[in-house]
Amino acid sequence: MSEVQNTTPAKKPIIFSGIQPSGTLTLGNYIGALKNFSKLQDDYDCIYSIVDMHAITVRQNPAELRRRCLELAAIYIASGIDPKKSLIYCQSHVPQHAELAWILNCYTYMGEMNRMTQFKDKSAKHADNINVGLFTYPVLMAADILLYQTNLVPVGSDQRQHLEICRDIAQRFNGIYGDVFTIPEGYIPKVGARVMSLQEPTRKMSKSDPEDTFVALLDDPDTIRRKIKRAVTDSDGEIRYDPENKPGVSNLLSIMSALGEGDMEAIAAQMQGQGYGALKTRTADCVIAALEPLQAEFKRLINDKGYLQGILDENAKTASYLANKTLRKVQKKIGFAARG
Ligand code: AQP
Repeated sequence: MSEVQNTTPAKKPIIFSGIQPSGTLTLGNYIGALKNFSKLQDDYDCIYSIVDMHAITVRQNPAELRRRCLELAAIYIASGIDPKKSLIYCQSHVPQHAELAWILNCYTYMGEMNRMTQFKDKSAKHADNINVGLFTYPVLMAADILLYQTNLVPVGSDQRQHLEICRDIAQRFNGIYGDVFTIPEGYIPKVGARVMSLQEPTRKMSKSDPEDTFVALLDDPDTIRRKIKRAVTDSDGEIRYDPENKPGVSNLLSIMSALGEGDMEAIAAQMQGQGYGALKTRTADCVIAALEPLQAEFKRLINDKGYLQGILDENAKTASYLANKTLRKVQKKIGFAARG
């Protein structure tokens, strides 16, 4: 008698990540997060959200925000995410994010939120609008992740602290109610987890900072060359990877390394005796080549708004269905009244 085989495909682990449509995406967003999204989609069930609810923690122009959400959908797809394999949707179209965030707010302590460095940085940057949403941003992020029973979260290193608090909240909740949430792990790239500003290389590159501090994913080649040419370096002229003493030069070396040019020390060794002009030219060539296919595909996709809208609508329904399973379980555990 032949052995009975179990033909049910093994369930893949789950990935969740999101990017805010809070500005033009930067090379930092690409290297730290987006570049890895498509790579993971064969081995994981991936959920990639356009986190517009996070974006409004800083004041946004409504028309621009709406446009950027569609653009981000096009960028996701242009970067290689296949909407047939992975979910791409707007966070605000799946109300379970807000519902779970409210519940988790009641299981999170003020002291924990007070320690968050992103809140401190952003309240300094937006002193005229230090709103409660900015303060509880990490709780909404925890809800995003926990709703889907996520195993792995690909993010840049600036999100490490938020991920840690997400794990703490989940463990606290599970400690009271049993195993409700999967405890997620971070997936943080070894190189390029923190791409630095071109003008202030001791600070991270951010999409809501001034234009000349970042390379935007959709910058044309001349603009990329100009911005990198003007990047702040130092005065000793030596090409060496030394982030503490040579942050500007080291940033350019890590950008190249993250884009596949080899490790930073090896690139520095190859470029011994050459000046910063050569270093910048090579960095710009490498960035232009890396972004070229994404840009070409983006240009094609952004003209097909109907297609993009269709993906967002369809995928939001699937995301909502998945999210509801966790939300209902949570609601039941904490004692919300049953539905008839
Ligand atoms: N400089 C960076 N280097 C590496 N990774 C980065 N990320 C952001 N900046 C860098 C990663 O990109 C993903 C999406 O980020 P986000 O839009 O959710 O928010 P953020 O981290 O606050 O990014 P920005 O660009 O700095 O946005 P604004 O200016 O609006 O605050 C995350 O995985 C992040 O780690």
